[in-house]
Amino acid sequence: MSRIAYVNGRYLRHASAGVSIDDRAFVFGDGVYEVCEVRDGVPTDAPRHLARLARSLAALRIEAPLGEAALARVMGEVIARNRVRDGLVYLQVSRGAARRDHAFPAAARPGLVVTAKSLDPSANEARALGGVKVVTRPDERWAHPHVKTLQLLPNVLAKQSAREAGAYEAWFVDGQGFITDGASTNAWIVTAQGRLVTRPTDPAILAGVTRATLIDVAARLGFALEQRAFAPDEAYAAREAFLSSATTVVLPVIEIDGRPIGEGRPGPVARELRRRFHDIATRGFAPVDVRAAGD
Ligand SMILES: Cc1ncc(COP(=O)(O)O)c(C=O)c1O
Repeated sequence: MSRIAYVNGRYLRHASAGVSIDDRAFVFGDGVYEVCEVRDGVPTDAPRHLARLARSLAALRIEAPLGEAALARVMGEVIARNRVRDGLVYLQVSRGAARRDHAFPAAARPGLVVTAKSLDPSANEARALGGVKVVTRPDERWAHPHVKTLQLLPNVLAKQSAREAGAYEAWFVDGQGFITDGASTNAWIVTAQGRLVTRPTDPAILAGVTRATLIDVAARLGFALEQRAFAPDEAYAAREAFLSSATTVVLPVIEIDGRPIGEGRPGPVARELRRRFHDIATRGFAPVDVRAAGD
């Protein structure tokens, strides 16, 4: 008997079922899920699982793909079609499929996938009889922004809140009160003394490739550069601020948290770095001197 999955309104063969490669759960981790035990063909604690699902959806502002009664019917149908007596039913909801952009898409229908699988209850019983071992680890969920992972939900929520505040980007602030990264860009300021400042590539930021090339551009142009952390107060008082990324290159920042930066318009340093960036950046796949590529 082949397994059956429910995918966005259809019951499909599990092995060949699929969702769009633009699905935001796949691209950003922008979704939520639930797992219920199935015992004698019936989900355990279903109302509590569905209530938690509703809370998770509300927290991410994802519309419920189905009402609770319809969802319960789909779960029952998936359990029945897979002839699961003992096992689990899994459901996941994503914000839907849309052209890739961190902020919420204007029109995307939430995606729903429900699967079920049988598990051998005697295996769990045997484990319970013998007991299990545990190790302790630091709680690092997810504490590695220097890795360019798909775990982008915090970035998605920050970008969305920026958009709702009428801003282009959000700059994250760490526990010590220093700016780390933008939701999808690196952060820079130019001090009153004309020195460029950007955070060093510590584990709190993504080591932007554009950032590394801009450091070379700055050196070529003879700009003084400090790689150190800076706080929002220093940024508010900066002569200029800008952000960098592969797709934006250099974008001058004219306002942070409602405060104009410098004269409230793009400054000369950001403009010059932007203008000269492609003189230094490599084109195509010419070999790169790896020692020079790191900073
Ligand atoms: C969190 C974050 N910081 C910085 C950047 C900029 O990196 P790059 O210049 O390599 O595009 C990105 C790019 O996606 C990013 O997601």
